[in-house]
Amino acid sequence: MSVAVIIPAAGSGSRFGGEIPKQFRLLGGKPILQLVVERFLAHERVSRIVVAVAEMLVDEAKQTDRVKFVAGGATRQQSVTNALASVGDVELVAVHDAVRPFFTYGTFDALLAAAAEHGAAFPGVPVTDTIHLVRDDRIVQTPDRPALVAAQTPQCFRAAILRDVLTRAAGDDATDEAGLAARFGHEVRVVPGDPTNFKITRPEDLAMAERMLEEA
Ligand code: C5P
Repeated sequence: MSVAVIIPAAGSGSRFGGEIPKQFRLLGGKPILQLVVERFLAHERVSRIVVAVAEMLVDEAKQTDRVKFVAGGATRQQSVTNALASVGDVELVAVHDAVRPFFTYGTFDALLAAAAEHGAAFPGVPVTDTIHLVRDDRIVQTPDRPALVAAQTPQCFRAAILRDVLTRAAGDDATDEAGLAARFGHEVRVVPGDPTNFKITRPEDLAMAERMLEEA
């Protein structure tokens, strides 16, 4: 089955701080986004990568047959929706955060297989902290920890399912597509994720990523 990858990279990275959004910070001498694109390009099943970036960067970006740049939107969900319009005629679509450079082909292949069979799949890792639902500084609920997983990316879908849920959820601001697919009644499988596939969110994450590259 043909595979396209969507990379939402139009965020401003406010939690990271600084002038340059985190996806353009250097890791091992290259922008993190470039590392992620190169890793997907080297995967034999990926026919197209669509990257959503800030509108002012679209004209500067180098478009190729396999890598397209489109303007993102005000939210991550809108950026993914904009990119989906340019994936072309593919059967499977993976959505991957621009700032997770350490995904493995083993996990990606398992996700593609699960999405082909069941419709949708995401990598999940067990939660080590207890998570409370809090409102007005008070605990309102404490979900059973063994029942919780933290959602990573790449999240993989049959293209028709991703199109369906993004159309139905238009205007929302979901932080991942797996949850949207489940909300609209699709089966979504969890595949074991990998703790090293973390999202570079804060400066200390980038420092840890540099150490991981040096040790690799
Ligand atoms: O903010 P967060 O870390 O959840 O963002 C996840 C990904 O979504 C990042 O790669 C970010 O660049 C992207 N994003 C986007 N468009 C937005 C907001 C975030 O493509 N409007």
